[in-house]
Amino acid sequence: MTSDAVNSESFHTVRWVGDSLTGVLRLIDQTRLPTEYVEIDCRDVPTVWEAIRSLRVRGAPAIGVAAAYGAVLGARAEGASEPAAVVRALKSATASLRTSRPTAVNLFWALDRMEASLGQSDHRDAAAVLDSLLAEARRIDQEDRAMCRAIGRHGAPLVGQGQGVLTHCNAGGLATADYGTALAVIFAAHEQGTELRVFADETRPLLQGARLTAWELKRRGIPVTLICDSMAAQVMREGKIQLVVVGADRIASNGDTANKIGTYGVALLAKAHGIPFYVAAPSSTFDHSIPHGADIPIEQRDPREITHGFGRQTAPEGVEVYNPAFDVTPAELIAGIITEKGVIRPVNRDTIAETLGREAMT
Ligand code: MRU
Repeated sequence: MTSDAVNSESFHTVRWVGDSLTGVLRLIDQTRLPTEYVEIDCRDVPTVWEAIRSLRVRGAPAIGVAAAYGAVLGARAEGASEPAAVVRALKSATASLRTSRPTAVNLFWALDRMEASLGQSDHRDAAAVLDSLLAEARRIDQEDRAMCRAIGRHGAPLVGQGQGVLTHCNAGGLATADYGTALAVIFAAHEQGTELRVFADETRPLLQGARLTAWELKRRGIPVTLICDSMAAQVMREGKIQLVVVGADRIASNGDTANKIGTYGVALLAKAHGIPFYVAAPSSTFDHSIPHGADIPIEQRDPREITHGFGRQTAPEGVEVYNPAFDVTPAELIAGIITEKGVIRPVNRDTIAETLGREAMT
């Protein structure tokens, strides 16, 4: 299908089709957007692992939901007919999926939940264990949808009439179960009648802003201007940006935030121009075990993403390349974190604990 044929509200980033015994995980292959809309069916853990690693499914919350369904696929591997065999197969699946990507904490959060759910299931019957695992994956999926809508509701009032809003990477419906985080704020403001224009950083090297954010905004009829990452400073100086909103892959307990490489630079630029810089993320993106951003593992990716990024070689053979996929924005550069429970502002250990609840921190 061409991507233009997809109705604005109709795409499903990640979904389970069928029952727990024979169902499949169906994903949009995001590497084919914006020109082609192709869905792929995953029937085993290696296929899900590859889809996550190669960014067919990407964005922290969407990775978590895909991994949860991937764990169900793993749990029924080799026709596990005894409850103990299902549990063993699940543990082997989660161990494998944990190695797919290191930075987005939602992956580990979702797999932890899948494992913990075993404690609540009836272990007398293998089919019942599989059913309860699928039910937990569906809950993770549904909860993400609800959290994204709530993030939109809390964030929409931050967008003023006629403002220019800059975003980096893609934190939309394609990066979550539905609706997004940073883009949820923009979608909700637009739905409430706020006129705005989004400036979308193209987001080198893999162009999630150009390929995915511009695609999502265009099909919702929201004015969007695509810029190269290196243009953000100039666009800010020209007075075209009044607000920055980005997503997050992992937030340390002090508020330091890992997001797509380039985000830290945008935060510094926003500070230099007196523009508020907001992060939008669900509580599943907070890692309370990590005190500072310096402890967040940063994914290093294949140099070919930089040397062959546009379908052809764009750098001399053998040149040394550094390709970190994420950077960390210190909490002091963040005006607020928009969560499903409200806006955390100012951002520090205490305000995070107050908004998310002290019990969530332990
Ligand atoms: O490498 P990606 O495309 O998975 O990186 C995605 C991002 O950095 C997003 O901003 C983040 O995951 C938030 S998605 C709601």
